Amino acid sequence: MKIQTSAPGKLMLLGEHAVVYGYPCLVTAVDNRLYVSAELHKKNEDEIIAPQVKESNFVKETLKVFKSKYHILDNLKIETQSEFSHTVGFGSSSAVTVATLKALSILLDIPLSAKEIFDLSYEVVLAIQSVGSGFDVAIADYGHTLYFVGGGKEIRPLKNDEMHLVVGYSGTKADTPTLVKKVSALRKEKKEEIDRIFDSIGKLVEQATECIQIKKWEELGKLMTQNHTFLQSLDVSTDRLDSMVHTAVEAGAYGAKLSGAGGGDCMIALVNEDKREAVEKGIESAGGEVIRVKTNAEGVRVESS
Ligand code: PMV
Repeated sequence: MKIQTSAPGKLMLLGEHAVVYGYPCLVTAVDNRLYVSAELHKKNEDEIIAPQVKESNFVKETLKVFKSKYHILDNLKIETQSEFSHTVGFGSSSAVTVATLKALSILLDIPLSAKEIFDLSYEVVLAIQSVGSGFDVAIADYGHTLYFVGGGKEIRPLKNDEMHLVVGYSGTKADTPTLVKKVSALRKEKKEEIDRIFDSIGKLVEQATECIQIKKWEELGKLMTQNHTFLQSLDVSTDRLDSMVHTAVEAGAYGAKLSGAGGGDCMIALVNEDKREAVEKGIESAGGEVIRVKTNAEGVRVESS
């Protein structure tokens, strides 16, 4: 028997960095997916076939965590395949972790709830990266759009099927753990100032949650741009990201911001469809590469069994 599962990539809408300190964030799943197939084979050792070393490390750790809970033999063959590059920051590590756990649970007939998959996945992430809020495994698991509080203290799905984003890739890969550690060092140096910024970001997330629910896109855009300014104060943006954000707003986006840890990866712009083309052109003129995605995608699922 061979099981194939898939989990979506993600984009942080608001609240990055602050979420590591227990604040809320908003995150949406994108329709670019990562696929995992799992089967039992005759060899006495596990075999992992993953195009990216990073994905292979996450699969290895997932197997370790899974085996520490459930007694299973070393006779698994796991293969991964992704619709998105690990360089864009869509969360291939979290998607591969969640999709692997789902595949194991079906293959070995060990039922796992979404919360159990989250808890195990978060254990894997912390074992490898030692830092992180867990938002990325939560969205790969639950999908759609989530209000998420650091560590998974609250995971609340939001209805959000009409939001239009333009995504621009900055051309450089960000190293999330390094940026999280950089912000932590900054906070040690200027605790009051940084905590004030986190508080303000937390408030933006609460307002943005309300905006999504009542479809107040113009206001949501403004909150996103304000969030970007706070991220600049945390010194995690780059000139390229700043200029992509600036040109997107100039071209008529409701608002824009970097998405994720910063230092590279992607920015997002909230648009009305009639402004999409102009905003895409603006982002390209600032050196960005537009990636077309649909948001609010389904969480982890079984593709075939
Ligand atoms: O770089 P990304 O897309 O994995 O986002 C990181 C978001 C942080 O808040 C900086 C870290 C975290 O784990 O929440």
